[in-house]
Amino acid sequence: MKKILIVGSLNMDCVIETPHIPRAGETISGRNVVFTPGGKGANQAYAIGKLGGSVKMLGAVGKDSFGQTLKNNLANVGVDVSEISVLEHEPTGQAFISIDDEGENSIIIIPGANGALTPELIGKKEEYLKKNIENSDIIVMQLEIPLETVTYVKELAASFQKTIIVDPAPAVTDIPDSFWNGIDYIKPNETELSILTGKPTGTREEIIEGAKSMLHKGVRNVIATMGGKGCLLVNKDSTQFFESRSVKAIDTTAAGDCFTAAFALALAEGKSCQKAIAFGQEASAIAVTRKGAQASIPNRQEITETSC
Ligand code: RIB
Repeated sequence: MKKILIVGSLNMDCVIETPHIPRAGETISGRNVVFTPGGKGANQAYAIGKLGGSVKMLGAVGKDSFGQTLKNNLANVGVDVSEISVLEHEPTGQAFISIDDEGENSIIIIPGANGALTPELIGKKEEYLKKNIENSDIIVMQLEIPLETVTYVKELAASFQKTIIVDPAPAVTDIPDSFWNGIDYIKPNETELSILTGKPTGTREEIIEGAKSMLHKGVRNVIATMGGKGCLLVNKDSTQFFESRSVKAIDTTAAGDCFTAAFALALAEGKSCQKAIAFGQEASAIAVTRKGAQASIPNRQEITETSC
């Protein structure tokens, strides 16, 4: 099986369940609060590990109990955590998440050590980084660490002709066009695609237009997810629609991470892009029916292999 390297964030999630997300100036009572492992990069690494993949994570945590808990949680599902730096002067990243009765969330992130994962920090170990990239087949990144770092790793990964997957979350507006060149797969949801392109994505036609504009910037494949409405694969050859299974979502946190991870794993196992998308959809359809980020990730047996 091919090896996957995740370069990204680790957060301790502070999750508050509440009837609705508070509006500006509003004070409301939450039902309960829990601390649970999260972070987009760590969620993806955890999912690949739990689903049986070969995965290493490169990231940073603080020298505190949250950092240790996050590393332990990853190690428990077989993720290689040897390239997770423990920083003396930065706290572990945190995410403050409100979940409403519909399962929708809003998230505020305090980057902490994730923000300190600069090219300088990992560049100090460039030989290790090169070795890690060389020893991996698929490199998966998100945008919860500095963009310069994602760019730096992407360039190195491209020079070794590795498969590069970027989950462009959280999406930001000021990404230079050159960043996208040479990325094999991006997986934005409709909102992220709209932020990245500056174009509306309210209809399927608009999403396809937005995806095509990302192809013009040099991305090879765009997988645009639309929650319960399925997803689209857009590349220079075709546009394909994938219906999603209807489920009752109670918490959508990390559903996108679960999709990306399962998709990357299926590619690592030699499945076609189409089968990998179906596997990603199935994994995330299960994740949204459960609470938490890493806590919601299914295991292999739970995913209906026949549909993938
Ligand atoms: O994608 C979900 C994740 O976003 C959460 O686990 C939280 O840590 C934020 O990074």
